[in-house]
Amino acid sequence: MRTSLAVVLAAGEGKRMKSRLPKVLHPIGGLPMLFHVLNAVAPAVERIVVVAAPASKDEIAKAVGKRYPNATVLVQDRQLGTGHAALVAREAIAGAGDVMVVFGDTPFLSSRSVELMRERIAGGASVVVGGMRPDDPRGYGRLVMEGDRLVAIREERDASEAERAIRFCNGGMMALAGVTAVDLLDAISDDNDQREFYLTDAVEIANARGLEVTAVEIAADEAIGINDRAQLAAAERLFQTRRRAEAMAEGVTLVAPETVFLAHDTVLGRDVTVEPNVVFGPGVRVGEGVTIRAFSHVEGADIAPGAIIGPFARLRPGASIGAGAHIGNFVEVKQAEVGEGAKINHLSYVGDASVGAKTNVGAGAITCNYDGFSKQRTEIGAGAFIGSNSSLVAPVAIGDGAYVASGSVITDDVEADALAFGRARQVDKPGRAAELRKKLRGSLPS
Ligand code: UD1
Ligand code: MG
Repeated sequence: MRTSLAVVLAAGEGKRMKSRLPKVLHPIGGLPMLFHVLNAVAPAVERIVVVAAPASKDEIAKAVGKRYPNATVLVQDRQLGTGHAALVAREAIAGAGDVMVVFGDTPFLSSRSVELMRERIAGGASVVVGGMRPDDPRGYGRLVMEGDRLVAIREERDASEAERAIRFCNGGMMALAGVTAVDLLDAISDDNDQREFYLTDAVEIANARGLEVTAVEIAADEAIGINDRAQLAAAERLFQTRRRAEAMAEGVTLVAPETVFLAHDTVLGRDVTVEPNVVFGPGVRVGEGVTIRAFSHVEGADIAPGAIIGPFARLRPGASIGAGAHIGNFVEVKQAEVGEGAKINHLSYVGDASVGAKTNVGAGAITCNYDGFSKQRTEIGAGAFIGSNSSLVAPVAIGDGAYVASGSVITDDVEADALAFGRARQVDKPGRAAELRKKLRGSLPS
């Protein structure tokens, strides 16, 4: 049984990004753009080869790693064009039933389009190109059609006036039947101005051999390519617009949608309300009816139904907020479980900790989790009260129902239901203020 293969071309230098990071690893919605492409092809094919440049191979291989167990990363030693890049996967192509060649910098490709193109191969075509009708066709190869037959792809610089008027353009994805793929790719030459092997030449070669060559139309959005930071920002904008619309369609209120930033994997339950200027990093799940108030930053966090977060709250990875809990303004929670109905309402840092149900953490109370060398845990029981401006020096445990006096520095465990003072007792000296004033006044020059 011959398998289906996707070859993802990602060896271009990405010079215009002016970045140390390989272009295809720049994120959109918090996910490297290459992964958007891999997510689109992975459900549609059995094997994936990513073609990388020597300089970026290790980084790309590390990123692809365990995430896509059916993907292999191969190196294109020199960037001699898209036709040459595809042939880096020669061995895999030779064994494949059908081959999808796609670009690693075209993140909005959909699984549906991949399926559509594969279906035409299954129906007997040897080459199927993903065509689109962009508002502005400048820069794209034009698809020269005769009825359903794709005769040629003409790059703009080689196109005649009549060809340039064609609006149907090469979106940059191509499906090939496995039996003829290697032969067609081998027949591509670099006999052109650029001295590059153009993948698109496979179209004319296949036609000359009397093979069936056609194009399917895909949405122009799917073919958006990213070459520089401005295009990266435009792609992010498009991604955000879609994700916001999806969230609202699922029953989420975004008070000012254009100011809320979602990640590729943000899960928002029904009747969640997100106020303006909230940013979600990757790995966030928000339960039903949660309110996230303005200017909060949330990443790697789980928020149970009915909780209220913010305004100006920061939830960092490993924050797990219980049902109905309140996390208020200028509160940071990291790697900590906050129990049901607990309240941490003002100016706190809670890290590497657990806070029991219904516990109240007062204004300015913090966990001192780091001694300069390692992180230590703070365990706070249920129904406890941590007075304002207390410092809980980890490792330390506060029992259920315990009460920590405000301003305490707590270095030892506190038993359940105990009252702990970790500060000097107040001393009042009657009349001493007046005496002091008199003395100080007397020392001034008259
Ligand atoms: C290509 C198409 C053009 C199409 C357009 C759509 C060709 C000859 N032209 O042009 O018809 O309208 O895309 O966006 O294919 N790459 C390698 N190795 C190489 C060269 C390129 O891996 O040696 C990779 C790049 O990383 C990139 C992709 O192939 O992901 C496309 O290369 P690019 O140079 O951007 O092609 P375009 O000029 O945009
Ligand atoms: Mg390009």
